[in-house]
Amino acid sequence: MAHAKEEQTLIIMKPDALQRNLLGEIIHRFERKGLKIVGLKMMQLADVLVDEHYAHHKEKPFFAGLKKFMKASPVVVVVLSGINAIGATRLIVGPTRGYEADAGSIRGDFALSGQSNIVHASDSLEAAAEEIKRFFTRDELFDYKRNDFDFVHSDELGEE
Ligand code: CMP
Repeated sequence: MAHAKEEQTLIIMKPDALQRNLLGEIIHRFERKGLKIVGLKMMQLADVLVDEHYAHHKEKPFFAGLKKFMKASPVVVVVLSGINAIGATRLIVGPTRGYEADAGSIRGDFALSGQSNIVHASDSLEAAAEEIKRFFTRDELFDYKRNDFDFVHSDELGEE
């Protein structure tokens, strides 16, 4: 297995997460896993930010609907940090379409739709770096030690 690395990833709790009172439930799942919240804020997405974030979907037939949905109410954006944070977060979130997601994942438990799928999560190191920069300034990100770090990351401390 490749050596596990500390990574950062971006999640967006979408308007359906906020409207359905799921913010606490979602944050709780990432906290329980051991992922560290290093940035968190609520924002109303502007056209320009949605266009940039979903530029790769611009030509898709669902783009207009996706844009309207993402602007329907504020969203909450979060940066998570931890060992293999990108992959670990995507497992917790589940695949894009709620109706295909396993029970136990966020989308598996709370979504039936392809569009209203509760959470966005970065899908690669490159995307995470770009997305974090898109939504957060440097002084909105915090570096601190979580007191359970040594226990959550014990396999990184030379313990077989
Ligand atoms: P996300 O993981 O944020 O990445 C792109 C988003 O586009 C996706 O979640 C959904 O919200 C939306 N999306 C993807 N496929 C469809 C689809 N077939 N119809 C509507 N929206 C979609």
